[in-house]
Amino acid sequence: MTQIAVLGSMNMDLVAYAEKAPLLGETVTGRAFRTIPGGKGANQAIAAARAGAMVSMIGAVGHDAYGARMRETLEHSGVDTDSLRTIEGPSGTAHIVVDDEGGNAIVVIPGANGTVDHLAPGDEGVIACADMLLLQLEIPLAAVVAGAQAARRHGVRTVLTPSPARPLPSELLDHIDLLVPNEREAATLTDRADPRDAAAALLDRVPQVVVTLGAAGCLYLTRDAAPLVIAAPRVAAVDSTGAGDTFVGALAVALAEEKPIREALSWAAAAAAVSVQREGATESMPYRPEIEAQYTA
Ligand code: RIB
Ligand code: NA
Repeated sequence: MTQIAVLGSMNMDLVAYAEKAPLLGETVTGRAFRTIPGGKGANQAIAAARAGAMVSMIGAVGHDAYGARMRETLEHSGVDTDSLRTIEGPSGTAHIVVDDEGGNAIVVIPGANGTVDHLAPGDEGVIACADMLLLQLEIPLAAVVAGAQAARRHGVRTVLTPSPARPLPSELLDHIDLLVPNEREAATLTDRADPRDAAAALLDRVPQVVVTLGAAGCLYLTRDAAPLVIAAPRVAAVDSTGAGDTFVGALAVALAEEKPIREALSWAAAAAAVSVQREGATESMPYRPEIEAQYTA
């Protein structure tokens, strides 16, 4: 089995389902409220574990009911939580509105994730044992950099989801093998609206880029081959929260298993397509047989 380490965030997602998201100054009446474990780190960890890898999660939750439930959710999906700290203070929360098209808007309050600003003793050993390290930007940048550097020291491949988007220093990108922004993040990082132009610009800084395009699939660029465009299966979206994380978790597993890139991307797109058809981030993530059922070569 392949081994994946995730260094990142865990949030309790506090989700309001409404016909449409309110504008500033507006009040709307919603349909339902749910609390569902999420956070980009935990989402990628659970997606990878369900897709068939052994996964270790490095991060922190608060000393509260949300933290306990998030730990339980990871363990239930088979994620190793030995490197998950519980700290004094609140867990991270994400305040989410999901509209009737399945789109979302999110405010994240870091809570415990904000304390993850360095690698703890033992974390480097966990990273060293992995085939791949998955990183996002919902913990302090110093820890993300330290994780990427540790991975490089041990020859472990790194995947960065640059979300929430922010300027990325070379001390981080120099140690990233694959960058996976969505369309908006790619534009923010490069000031180029066209995803292909943005991806081409990002190739100056990392060897491989995947721009996720939602229902339109994804775009893959590498320095030494022609770009690939991969379509997503056509499905009716109910809630796209965590779809990008599902894509990354499944992609990491496929790449760690040495699937060819085109197949790995289609497989990841299939996993994301399953997830958008159900509510919630972690709750909607498919187990491997469901990915296989949605996958068409
Ligand atoms: O990427 C989706 C995630 O973003 C949600 O689960 C939420 O916690 C925010 O971090
Ligand atoms: Na979903």
